[in-house]
Amino acid sequence: MNFHPHPFEQFQLWYQEAVSQKLKYPDAMTLATCTPDGFPSARMVLFKGLNTRGLRFFTNYESRKGQELLQNPRAALVFYWSIFDRQVRVEGTIEKTTEAESNEYWNSRPRGSCISALSSAQSQEVASRDELEKRFFELERKFAEQPIPRPIHWGGFCLVPHRFEFWMEGAHRLHDRICYERVGTAWNMKRLAP
Ligand SMILES: Cc1cc2nc3c(=O)[nH]c(=O)nc-3n(C[C@H](O)[C@H](O)[C@H](O)COP(=O)(O)O)c2cc1C
Repeated sequence: MNFHPHPFEQFQLWYQEAVSQKLKYPDAMTLATCTPDGFPSARMVLFKGLNTRGLRFFTNYESRKGQELLQNPRAALVFYWSIFDRQVRVEGTIEKTTEAESNEYWNSRPRGSCISALSSAQSQEVASRDELEKRFFELERKFAEQPIPRPIHWGGFCLVPHRFEFWMEGAHRLHDRICYERVGTAWNMKRLAP
């Protein structure tokens, strides 16, 4: 298999192939963050496209991940598409997306998702499911037939990559591993042993 010399292009090729398979979540990726003193944590989030800097996802800035990313702006992402036996790993630094990008994505979301984001102090303890639903329905009534404003604590992050690794299963577990490392504005490409 030939790999594109630019990792963003290679990523788009594999990502579009995954999207074409009509998987439920071709855009699901594991996001690993780390506290300033080195304790990692990981969870799934949805990939929301590349901008000129890197890979975007959206969340609550006050959530556990949000706080970890703001305090230690370094992260790793992992995609796995079992249908193709492919994994992509991405490592880099974290920036907030612009307000315009966060607004644009917020405005594209279904109303229910916006109300849910508004009603949920993500990662904080809640007394019960009932409490969550009560808050959701209150906000639904409050904003009936009105635009739902994006809260300032909700928005995007962009992972600006300095390393990509494309992994593909091979016969006899002799897998392909193609690694790209950023050197200034160029990308250095090498093959790793499986
Ligand atoms: C497939 C999948 C996609 C998800 N996408 C997102 C997402 O895009 N943004 C988000 O904040 N949480 C998303 N979640 C929920 C997170 O995994 C996590 O439960 C939540 O963000 C709280 O994480 P934290 O406490 O580490 O901040 C998703 C979960 C799954 C299983």
